[in-house]
Amino acid sequence: MTAPPPPLLELSGIGKNYGSVLALRDVGLVVEAGSISCVLGDNGAGKSTLIKVVAGLHAHDTGSYRISGEEVHLSSPRQALDRGIATVYQDLAVVPLMPVWRNFFLGSELQRGRGPTARLDVAAMRATTREALLRMGIDLRDVDQPIGTLSGGERQCTAIARAVHFGAKVLVLDEPTAALGVKQSGVVLKYVAAARDQGLGVVLITHNPHHAYLVGDRFLLLKRGRMAGSHTRAEITLEQLTAEMAGGSELAELSHELRRAGVVPADPGEGTEPTT
Ligand SMILES: Nc1ncnc2c1ncn2[C@@H]1O[C@H](COP(=O)(O)OP(=O)(O)OP(=O)(O)O)[C@@H](O)[C@H]1O
Ligand SMILES: [Mg+2]
Repeated sequence: MTAPPPPLLELSGIGKNYGSVLALRDVGLVVEAGSISCVLGDNGAGKSTLIKVVAGLHAHDTGSYRISGEEVHLSSPRQALDRGIATVYQDLAVVPLMPVWRNFFLGSELQRGRGPTARLDVAAMRATTREALLRMGIDLRDVDQPIGTLSGGERQCTAIARAVHFGAKVLVLDEPTAALGVKQSGVVLKYVAAARDQGLGVVLITHNPHHAYLVGDRFLLLKRGRMAGSHTRAEITLEQLTAEMAGGSELAELSHELRRAGVVPADPGEGTEPTT
């Protein structure tokens, strides 16, 4: 019998300080090929910090980080990229006035010829961009339009298609649906699922338990830099995940404080037990 292959990513006991600020403490994360691991948590919970460790932007202070079983200490995003870990940041880092195809190939331009006579192979880049988008089911009217004219959802989808095209094994998405409406969020989640179906391991960071539950296989909940829950899909319902995220009792406490301060009117149901 052969042992199953190790997960694409396996972080355990991860700790990270910014000076005296404890940003992460004893955090674990597993990402398997062909699955989606969601990282949930409130503002300041440590989600972006965890992603920066995964993406090689910050080295972890404690714990272990393994990529396909091999222990690593990344000290630059290039090292993560070379190991197949592609990160799409919330601001996307695109050049808004450049055409879609130009952004798609940014930093990896195709050339024709060599030496001083080398030219950008614009036709090939256009055609490849169109094909790569189509393969993900994205039918863009015109890959020559400036990427800044695409909707937020289309831009996220283009970034996902780009990572898939350039051979990423792990795709990390920092709040891809945060600025989007219901419909566009649905479209982006569809492409997140398409990346998973192509065998990638996906790390999806979100505030939104509904979005996470639509596509997630595992859920990691962070609170003030610590793990407040880690579940497989089979272990938790959407209702439980939502309650855990909202921190049931914390929410009740907040509404009580707001009412006491007169910020919100008294609830007619006041006096009944809050449900957790
Ligand atoms: N470069 C930094 N220097 C100092 N402290 C930092 C730095 N980056 C983050 N922090 C602190 O670390 C903690 C975790 O921040 P992080 O950005 O990881 O949270 P987050 O979960 O991504 O929040 P958000 O939902 O607001 O994006 C916060 O207390 C934050 O103030
Ligand atoms: Mg963040």
